[in-house]
Amino acid sequence: MSHAEDHEGTRRDFLYYATAGAGAVAAGAAVWPLVNQMNPSADVQALSQIRVDVSGVQVGTQITVKFLGKPVFIRRRTEEEISEGRAVPVSELVDPGAFNSNLPADAPATDENRTLDEAGEWLVMMGVCTHLGCVPLGDGAGDFDGWFCPCHGSHYDTAGRIRRGPAPRNLPIPLAEFENETTIKLG
Ligand code: FES
Repeated sequence: MSHAEDHEGTRRDFLYYATAGAGAVAAGAAVWPLVNQMNPSADVQALSQIRVDVSGVQVGTQITVKFLGKPVFIRRRTEEEISEGRAVPVSELVDPGAFNSNLPADAPATDENRTLDEAGEWLVMMGVCTHLGCVPLGDGAGDFDGWFCPCHGSHYDTAGRIRRGPAPRNLPIPLAEFENETTIKLG
């Protein structure tokens, strides 16, 4: 990699963090700046329910909040991401289970079963790779335009479903719901 490319990568990362910081979290929890991920504070860890104001999250961006001491990705998907996710037959998936705490355990991993709203715009998942627990990179990363875990090369698609690499399961979806138009309640 040339120096120029290297610089470009750093700059993009910086912009990503800056965007990720745009959302505000209610209930005293802090937006999870990925750079501070090794510094969970006890008070935030103890909250079993948090409310996240997603009014500032633009289509095609995501924020990461901390919930129960772990990162949770909240992404507002583009039309392309939605259609890409919906075009994949469950039979092609590595993990055919939705892995969605809001649905029965045997729910299939259709794109519809992975999102919070019927339109499929909002995707809420634990940002924890199901291989060994690294935090995957987002914003269209990896070969399936979703998330990529650089630790051992796991590729997740636009619905957070594992498509290639050593991770055995889709990214887990925590208990979550829209409390009102702009607030997502976790837990
Ligand atoms: S921890 Fe993600 S691929 Fe190993």
